[in-house]
Amino acid sequence: MRSEYQHLIDLNDYPVSWWKKVVELGEEIRNDPKRFAHECDGKVMATLFYEPSTRTQMSFQTAMIRLGGQIIGFDNPANSSVSKGETIKDTTKIVSSYADVLVIRHPIAGAAKAASLTADCPVINAGDGGHLHPTQTLTDLLTLKIEKGRLTGLTIGMCGDLINGRTVHSLCKALSMFENNKFVFISTPELRMPAYIKDIIKANGSTFEEVNTIEEAIGNLDVLYMTRIQQERFASREDYLAQKNTYVLDRKKMLLGRKDLIVMHPLPRVDEITVDVDDDPRAMYFTQAKYGVFVRMALIMTILQEKKPSETLKGKVYPAVKCDNPRCITNHEEYLPKSFRSKGGESLLECEYCDERKLV
Ligand code: NCD
Repeated sequence: MRSEYQHLIDLNDYPVSWWKKVVELGEEIRNDPKRFAHECDGKVMATLFYEPSTRTQMSFQTAMIRLGGQIIGFDNPANSSVSKGETIKDTTKIVSSYADVLVIRHPIAGAAKAASLTADCPVINAGDGGHLHPTQTLTDLLTLKIEKGRLTGLTIGMCGDLINGRTVHSLCKALSMFENNKFVFISTPELRMPAYIKDIIKANGSTFEEVNTIEEAIGNLDVLYMTRIQQERFASREDYLAQKNTYVLDRKKMLLGRKDLIVMHPLPRVDEITVDVDDDPRAMYFTQAKYGVFVRMALIMTILQEKKPSETLKGKVYPAVKCDNPRCITNHEEYLPKSFRSKGGESLLECEYCDERKLV
């Protein structure tokens, strides 16, 4: 299925050269933001946030305003017709006829892809459930480029809720495309990185190991990427409480880290980094959040100026096959074509919206 608009649903829909270009433009903007103050004069960006957000939403809005454009949208679907039962299809169809670019965040995996099927303007995925968060990854790549000076040859520790954290999924998919990056996944057995992400890492020729504690990993890391335990994505409160407070980065653990380590976090932080770590020069999370504006300015400019058509669904539609993930958009919006990629013959299918696998 083809769309005449250039969407960003998953960074891996584009070649690495494209991300590099966006990140480089982000760096140029950071060095001289005023030069870009009229790049989007007269343009309108809509932010449809079906899920809470501080940084992503406000940095997108700031980015558009700093480019000379204007913003519309909602940050509480209860105040829009969504509360009356409107589908993503109808909401995005209408809003995309008002705006030049649409930024969507939704609690269900695949929602941004669903929006891109019918929108009459480019759609940017600002986080779809526990699935992906490509613009956080662009932010992270810009942070690594500026603060580490490279995107290759890095040992990256990722700690916390690796199963539900969409930021680490997107970041693994991206960093494994660069040479000689190694991953160390620090989590409890219940919160390990999903198998499909590990398969992508292996297929891209990168390596990973899985450990249980920050202490055993931190001394070898260039980057420690901390994440929040995603309370809202657990099946029950008991399951969440069993994982809460498992990983807390404090000054004592920071003593074990190298001098050139940087600590990143997409934020919000709950209790996984103690506040006294904030004064450590290796704590990079507030700077990282600031870089989000520059890279989103670069992304908005790129998408509005390139105007390339996108391939929205590349798989095959199986009308009678149901995705097994209850938190996949195809199980919430029935009209969507049930599109799957076949993996290793016809018997293993991967949902094109949420990447859940299924044997048929
Ligand atoms: C993250 C998100 O929403 O996935 N935050 C962000 O966008 N900066 C991380 C999180 O919510 O834990």
